[in-house]
Amino acid sequence: MSSSSMRSFPSQTEPETREETETSQEIYRRCATSVISLPKSDGLSHLQLYRHHQGWHGSQMCIAGAMAADACFTARPSDIVVATLPKSGTTWIKSLLFSTVHRREHPADAADVHPFSSFGPHECIKFLEYQVYTGKEILPDDVDELPDPRLFATHVPWVALPAAAVASGCKVVYMCRDPKDTMVSLWHFVNKLRVKEWLEPLSVEIAADLFCDGLSAFGPYWDHVLGYWRAHLARPGQVLFFRYEELWKDPPAHVRRLAAFIGLPFDVDEEENGVVDAIVKLCSFEHMGGLEVTKSGRTEFVVGAVENSSFFRRGGVGDWANYLSPESARRIDAITKSKFEGTGLSL
Ligand code: A3P
Repeated sequence: MSSSSMRSFPSQTEPETREETETSQEIYRRCATSVISLPKSDGLSHLQLYRHHQGWHGSQMCIAGAMAADACFTARPSDIVVATLPKSGTTWIKSLLFSTVHRREHPADAADVHPFSSFGPHECIKFLEYQVYTGKEILPDDVDELPDPRLFATHVPWVALPAAAVASGCKVVYMCRDPKDTMVSLWHFVNKLRVKEWLEPLSVEIAADLFCDGLSAFGPYWDHVLGYWRAHLARPGQVLFFRYEELWKDPPAHVRRLAAFIGLPFDVDEEENGVVDAIVKLCSFEHMGGLEVTKSGRTEFVVGAVENSSFFRRGGVGDWANYLSPESARRIDAITKSKFEGTGLSL
């Protein structure tokens, strides 16, 4: 077991005393046991949700994964972490980040031989709490061997990011999405998983109420977005803040923004050779959604294997209007208004 699997940083989430010799799997198992004493409830999920003492919700496995990541992750200043709430466009921003970082060895205009033709974005950039610190494999050892810059992802709120990641000064790329579109996308996704588990699908109205009550994975939505917004204001060089809608409107402008933020701006030759447009096209909903690996592939997460196609439903802005009642839409808007008032943030 490498040193990275030993806990070596002060924890943001887990105040218990720790044995210096514990492996990451042992830590994960201990965290998983401690999670079951947290308050629990049903929510906008196919899994029972627990309430972390920091106020956010998650399944037993993902809270345990977040705690284990906090305890075990050895960050490097060169790491880049994608942070999102589920259904905010994680798959898209992962694709854009991966293809921007690796554009020299994997040119975006050679789509047939690009890693995306064999691996989904969630395999190219793994979630710390769902795929790395799962208690199942000794992936942290592999993580140590990855070359710079290492790319990771997380759904946890800013307050629950591994303390080592925050302290290292590594870059965090956050993407959020209109709460109504996020909620409707989440509702579709969760219902697919519920049906697979022989659970009744949730009505959109019940789902909206659960979302408004903060009872969704990594929710409350508003606290999550505000946490990263404030972190971005306090540390603009460390935390980049994207809105799905602005990316949708002008992808090349935001790919340039992303590249500049991670210290890999496009040079004149690349601009002249259309590299930005090639990345945008490679990562587009149409291209990624049509790949064979999307249509027939699956990605393993600690909570089970998920069809890659389930991360590509419709894409775009404003689909909420096709599902949400005016009352639910008004309720979400009212919470957004009151929570974001005076923060400088608008969605
Ligand atoms: P919809 O359900 O509204 O279609 P996540 O990746 O965080 O799970 O978010 C999934 C949402 O992002 C889904 O939204 C999905 O269709 C959309 N999405 C996935 N890939 C995309 C892409 N390349 N461009 C734009 N939207 C994308």
